[in-house]
Amino acid sequence: MKVPFYHHNLGAADASRIGAVLETPFLTTGAVARSVEDDLRRYFDVPEASVCSSWTNGTLATLLALEVGPGDEIVLPAMTFVACANVVEITGARPVFVDVDPKTLLIDIDQCLAAITPRTKVVMPVHLYGQMCDMARLVAAVKGVREDIIVLEDCAHAFESRYDGKRPGAYGDLAIFSFYATKNVTCGEGGAIIGHDGALMARIRQALLHGMSAGAADRFKAGYYRHWDVEHLGTKANLPDLLAALLPPQIAAIDELRLERQARVDRYRAGLTHQGLRFAEVDAAAVSAHHLFPVHVAPALRDRFLHELNASGIGTTVNYRSIHRLTYYVRKYGLEDTALPVSAEWGDGVISLPLYVSLDAASQDYVIEQVQRLAASL
Ligand SMILES: Cc1ncc(COP(=O)(O)O)c(C=O)c1O
Repeated sequence: MKVPFYHHNLGAADASRIGAVLETPFLTTGAVARSVEDDLRRYFDVPEASVCSSWTNGTLATLLALEVGPGDEIVLPAMTFVACANVVEITGARPVFVDVDPKTLLIDIDQCLAAITPRTKVVMPVHLYGQMCDMARLVAAVKGVREDIIVLEDCAHAFESRYDGKRPGAYGDLAIFSFYATKNVTCGEGGAIIGHDGALMARIRQALLHGMSAGAADRFKAGYYRHWDVEHLGTKANLPDLLAALLPPQIAAIDELRLERQARVDRYRAGLTHQGLRFAEVDAAAVSAHHLFPVHVAPALRDRFLHELNASGIGTTVNYRSIHRLTYYVRKYGLEDTALPVSAEWGDGVISLPLYVSLDAASQDYVIEQVQRLAASL
C-alpha cells in the first residue's frame, strides 16, 4: 500500500479560478490579492493584512521594514524550521535560540524572557505543529520587559488555531502565515502578514515590493504611468493574483476542514499505543490546527523508522532537527546540546506521519499498523 506524506485538496474548480485571472491584463498582485486581504482581515478580526510570496519572503520584508540589522537580536525557539533563523541571519542580526517546553514543544516563556537583552528587537514565538503559544501571557511578559520589542508570531502551521478562543494575531504586533505546498491553506507558494499598526503595515507593503512607493497595478491605476520612489530598502515578496485566486474557497472552508484533521489525529492517537512512542501534547486551552502529526521515537531508532516506513510505502519526514545542530549554525554559534536539551532530544527522535483531509481510514490504519509493528520490533 502507498500512503503519500501529503496531498492537496485542490481540483477543477480551482483551475477555473486561475483561468479567470488569465483573462485580466496583469497576472501579478491586484484585485484578487486585495480581496484575499479583505478575507484575512475578516477571519482574524484585525485591521491590517497583506499577502506575500512566502512566509520567508514576507518575514524578510517585515524585518527590513522594522530596520532590523547588525547589532540587533531576535529571540526564537531552536525547535522550528530553519527559515525562522535564516531570515534573521540574512539581515545581519543575531538569532538567539531558546529551548521549548518538553510537553508542547512551544517556546519556553521563562527562557524567552531570560534571553531578552537591550539589543532584542523582535521576539518570534512559533505556533509549532498547529498549536498556538499562550500569546496573552507571552506578550504581557515581553512587553513588561520593554514595550518596544516587536512580537512576531510564526503562524506557518497555525491558520485555523485558537488559544483561549483567540486566533493568531490577537496579541502579537504581527503574525505571519505560510501558504506553502503542504500547509493547511495553500497556493503552492505564498504567505500573509497581519497586524494592527497601519503605518507599520504601509512600510511592510513597500518592503514587499523593493521599497517602491507604488505597486505594478497601482502604477497604472489612473490609466497612465505614475512615477515611484524608494526611501527604504525592500525585497520582492508580493503574491501574484494567479496564486492568490486559490485561497478564498480554502479560507471559507478551513474551520470545517480542521474537524477532519482532528478526527485523523484522534484515530492516530487511539491506535498508536506502543510505550516507545511520544507525542506533542495539546494544552487544554488550545484548539490546534494539527498541521503536522509528529511522533517521537528513541533517537537511536529514528532513522531506521524513517527508512522502514518509506520502504513500506509510507511518506514520512522530520519536522525538525533542532536549528542549532545544522552545520551553518554549528559553525557560526557552536551551541552545545546542553544549552537546548529539549530541542536537541526531540529533534533527534521526531518523525512526521501523513496527515491531510483526504487521508482515508484504511490508509491511516495501515500507517498505524506499520508504526506499531516497528515500535515492537526495533
Ligand atoms: C514553522 C515554519 N516557519 C516558516 C516556514 C517558511 O514558510 P515558507 O515556505 O512559506 O517560506 C515554514 C515552512 O515550512 C515553517 O514550517
